[in-house]
Amino acid sequence: MAILVNEKIFTLNTKNTTYQMHVNELGILLHSYYGAKMEYSDLSYASSKKGWNASFSPNIRETSYSHCHASEELSVFGLGDFRLTSLALVNHDGTTGCEPVYHSHKILKGKYAIKGLPAFYGDEGETLVITLKDKAYDIYFHMYYGVLPEYDLITRAVVIENKTESQIKLKKALSLSLDFTSGQFDMIHFHGAHMRERQLERTRITHLASTVASVRGASGHMQNPFVIVCDKNATENYGSAYGIALVYSGNFVISAEVDQHESTRVVAGINPEGFEYTLDPNDTFETPEVALVYSGEGFGKLSNNYHDAIRNNLCRGKFKNARRPVLINNWEATYFDFNADKLVSMAKDAAAIGVELLVMDDGWFGHRDDDHTSLGDWFVNEKKLQGTLSNLVKRVNDEGLKFGIWFEPECISEDSELFKAHPDYRFAIPNRDPSPSRNQFVLDMTRKEVRDCIFDQMEKVLKSANIAYVKWDFNRHLSDIYSAAIPSERQGEIYHRYMLGVYELLERVTAAFPDILFESCSGGGGRFDCGMLYYMPQVWTSDNSDAIDRLKIQYGTSFAYPVRTMGAHVSVCPNHGNARVTPLTTRGNVAYFGTYGLELDITKMTDEEKQEIKRQIAEFKKYYDLIQFGDYYRLISPFTPEESRYCAWQVVSKDGNEALACTVAYESKCTVAPELLKLRGLNPNKLYRINGSEQTYLGSALMNIGFWLDYDHFSYPSRLYHITLA
Ligand code: DGJ
Repeated sequence: MAILVNEKIFTLNTKNTTYQMHVNELGILLHSYYGAKMEYSDLSYASSKKGWNASFSPNIRETSYSHCHASEELSVFGLGDFRLTSLALVNHDGTTGCEPVYHSHKILKGKYAIKGLPAFYGDEGETLVITLKDKAYDIYFHMYYGVLPEYDLITRAVVIENKTESQIKLKKALSLSLDFTSGQFDMIHFHGAHMRERQLERTRITHLASTVASVRGASGHMQNPFVIVCDKNATENYGSAYGIALVYSGNFVISAEVDQHESTRVVAGINPEGFEYTLDPNDTFETPEVALVYSGEGFGKLSNNYHDAIRNNLCRGKFKNARRPVLINNWEATYFDFNADKLVSMAKDAAAIGVELLVMDDGWFGHRDDDHTSLGDWFVNEKKLQGTLSNLVKRVNDEGLKFGIWFEPECISEDSELFKAHPDYRFAIPNRDPSPSRNQFVLDMTRKEVRDCIFDQMEKVLKSANIAYVKWDFNRHLSDIYSAAIPSERQGEIYHRYMLGVYELLERVTAAFPDILFESCSGGGGRFDCGMLYYMPQVWTSDNSDAIDRLKIQYGTSFAYPVRTMGAHVSVCPNHGNARVTPLTTRGNVAYFGTYGLELDITKMTDEEKQEIKRQIAEFKKYYDLIQFGDYYRLISPFTPEESRYCAWQVVSKDGNEALACTVAYESKCTVAPELLKLRGLNPNKLYRINGSEQTYLGSALMNIGFWLDYDHFSYPSRLYHITLA
């Protein structure tokens, strides 16, 4: 049993962790402990600091209890908790504040789902629902706790139910409020920009709130809805680390601060900025889910638990564990300048070297030959495609390749049939000129008729030909938010309703076409989050395809997201983004630790290059299961050039008998010191060979001493080391 209830003590146990709460004498649900697994005992003493100075912290009358000192599972703004809080509401009479107290609880078999929102799933899991009720009004808070013990995964979501006879307004409805008695933590987060996603940054959590957030209507390139809160000295394989991942793709906030008593509070959920939600009588509001993993053995263990949970219990559909095709995408090959003959010639050359699928990217619809037109007009440009789509797909299929296609369902161009017919379908504030971004606008996905219109068009295209893959792109963020279909007093619901609309459309499209592999994209990795992965099992990691820049991008991404979800392609040199020239082997090796594909004009490659790519495809397929389903270890960080000129990482089979390590030397120096690479995850007492070497190594030697790396005298060399049992 993962969930134990003893009187009013609630304990959630995973394989290696324990999370405990209790209801105190005032009926308040308090957090007691989250961390390494413990035998059952009442840990409630840990939730309050003894002997504090309570001045300037209001207390509940006749008691010494102050909200400001307590570790409340649902922390509320307005009644004396002056820290970060997770809930703020206004009652029908204009009063604020709320005092949620214990009402009831139940345990459910299986992991809960959330209406209209993505969430981890699993019949093998368990759910605890603790219902709290405001003391003064009939407002209920169903606190959902999901436990997937195998991955040390604990999830939380709150369902707010308005049983009063009037509307209430939610000003802030976060998913998580988590307290730690210690004030000694770091926060690791992943910031970035278009072409520079998920750069690792580690900062102390101090008395200044540390916040990562988005108000872009998408999780965005700039911050990722995932952080790690960890001991100051935690490393890849040492120390306590708490992962906090939002299963949401819209505006978010994750914030942490140390309070006046040196305790740390972390809150996470929908960003309250731009959010105000009117909850009708008898209606519910579901917060997105937050997925927590605790590791007492540093970040490596934490990442592997997220990887397994995402692979097995978040991604869905037939491709979640199936082999995915090696694809070639024509974007960097042709941009908008292609026709059917060009694509077929690419398919012919690609088939000859083992590629399995050709993706026709942006530019096949309406009259789109650049980024000024036609979004919203999802009908085939038969002139450009020299005939019907089904004819083109057949020609590509005849070359031996499957066919994939690009859509940007959420956006609209002013120069489009759709805009002419329905100018009000886009977001635009009345009396203001809406701001284009990449010359395009965002469709009002809060409206069912807009979603229906896009669904119908997509369905027609997808049914018209033998399509095996869809890339779902989103190339701008939300601004000029106003919906013609939402009353003025409810405009604060748009950002969230937009996401609910997008999720609904995604659910409809992916359910209607279960045999199609979907890849999420948002100008590369602008919406790489657990929300999107529920619908689409892979994400184009970045528009930056330079192998050296990708080291940091993929390294940062790997903290939460498995290799299997990271779209990674080999492209040409000089790289289109930064003009860097790197060896083709290095580009291949880096793309192996993703989905591996090509983003180049294969017809322009030399025979030698084609042979190298053919070799890579064969090699990638040889190691496919090891790479895609093994445990992943970051060995040397690309963010610490002062420590090593290499970036290195490794995958290990679940039984520890086989591993594949990769190194890329990204710094060139005239005098280089030989370096040893320490491996991880092997069986300490077994003997191994490296790339079939004569020499054998004890697993513990490889992990504690390492092995000498080969030296290559050229720029940006990369090596693969295959470690097998001797
Ligand atoms: C942005 C994507 O990240 C690219 O791969 C490509 O699909 C373009 N959009 C097309 O407009």
